[in-house]
Parts: sequence; C-alpha cells; structure tokens
Amino acid sequence: MFEKIQNTALIIKELFDFTPEVGIILGTGLGGLVSEIDILHTIDYKDIPNFPISTVEGHKGALIFGLLGGKRVVVMQGRFHYYEGYTAQQVVFPVRVMKLLGIKRLFVSNASGGINPNFKVGDLMVITDHINLIPNPLIGANIDELGVRFPDMSNVYDLSLIEKAREIASRDSLKLQYGCYVGVTGPTFETQKEYRYFSAIGGDSVGMSTTPEVITARHMLLPVFAMSVITDEGLSGVEATHESVQIEGAKAAKRMTHLFIEILKNI
Ligand code: HPA
Repeated sequence: MFEKIQNTALIIKELFDFTPEVGIILGTGLGGLVSEIDILHTIDYKDIPNFPISTVEGHKGALIFGLLGGKRVVVMQGRFHYYEGYTAQQVVFPVRVMKLLGIKRLFVSNASGGINPNFKVGDLMVITDHINLIPNPLIGANIDELGVRFPDMSNVYDLSLIEKAREIASRDSLKLQYGCYVGVTGPTFETQKEYRYFSAIGGDSVGMSTTPEVITARHMLLPVFAMSVITDEGLSGVEATHESVQIEGAKAAKRMTHLFIEILKNI
C-alpha cells in the first residue's frame, strides 16, 4: 500500500514542481472556495493513477494546486465517501498522497446536520472533537512509514488553529459554533431517534465524511483544522435532502472561505 501511495505522489511531482504547504478537503456544496484560489495546476481524479473516482452529484473530482491566502495549497474538489462503496482505505488514499506531496497541515470541511439545539441552518461549527462511527481506515496492516500502530486521538484538532479561528471570528464579527462531529456511514439521513441518540452521546453535528480523513491525518501527525457547515437541523423534523444540503452549503461557503483564507494568512 505504501508503494502505491508513493507512486501516485511521485507521478504528480513529476508533472510539475510545486510543494503544497496545506491540504484542503472541500465538502458538499462548499466548492465556492475554489474561485478564490490562484490556480496553477488542476488534475482530474480520473487522470491520477490509483485515485478512486467521485460519483456523487455536487462533488467534482479534481485536485487543484495553487495559492490561497498567500500559502501554497492543494485542494480536493470532491472527496470520497464510504457510502459510495469505496473501502475505508480508498477513502483516505488522497490524504496520504497529499502528505507525501509535502503538506504540513490539513483543513477539512463538510456539510452536516445540526444536532445541538442551539445550532441554526447556515451556522459554521469548528470541530473540536469527533465520534467516529465509520469503519476505521487504519484497520489492517499498519503502514509504519506513515505512523504508529496505535495512534493517539485525544488531541486531534489543532488547538492553535482553533484559537486562530476564534480570534479571526471575533475580529471580523463572524459567528462560530464549536462542537463534536459524529461521522456516520450514511447514505441514509438519520431517524429522529438516531439524531437524539447522537445528541445524547455528545454529538453536536452529524455527517457522512471527515472522520476517516482526520484519523488518517492524525496517524501521520498532521495538524488538522476542520469545520462543519450546518445545512439542516436534525431535531427539527424537517427532512434533509441532498439538494437542500447543497443549497445551504453553498450559502455558507462564502463565510467558511473567508475564515479559511484568514487562517491561512496567519499561519
Ligand atoms: N446527517 C448526516 N449527514 C448529513 C446531514 C445529516 O443530517 N446533513 C448533511 N449531511
């Protein structure tokens, strides 16, 4: 597996001379950030050896290299989800490739259902912890070249990046929520009792991504900053649909993009 990751990274490196500092994974409806990048190179996932191909509407499949907030970034426009039928290892393959390309930090975003009763549609939630209910991508032989067999998960979300977000939000009067993200397989949205259950175990938002990538990043000791855009209120009883999630995500994308750019400027 490590060789496969190395090979893919090597092929990308041979295409152009660019060492990204920060990797960014964009969630459903959050592609608006791309228009702010000074794009230097784009590669479609289908042209990257060993990359899975994104199948979900609203998820474009390309790796974008460029400058954002004065930093060299590699952006995943579209990610892979466990519910699409990929293995947990395939879902996190791009994160490992980005690490070998040189990234020193990973920023992750997602659209998710709010289960904290204080959250409203459109809120931005800084993820401060997670509960992973998706099969763990580290199951199987450990890739010793990337990290240890039993990685610590007590300090997954980088405190200094969270603090920067807090400072920027207060400076720019941007409302931020903070909380615990529950990662589930999907593809069903939750029943009312499931939303209640996730709330009872300490969750503030719930979605179908992020925890596999974050676990993989932590395995490689990459500092992570992650954010949920709240696209529906689970406990309200109002049905969530893929379309409503995309629409609400797009509306909030501007504020999330602003925050990401300002954090990038400050690291
Ligand atoms: N549940 C799971 N995933 C989601 C939700 C939700 O309510 N909203 C957006 N993604």
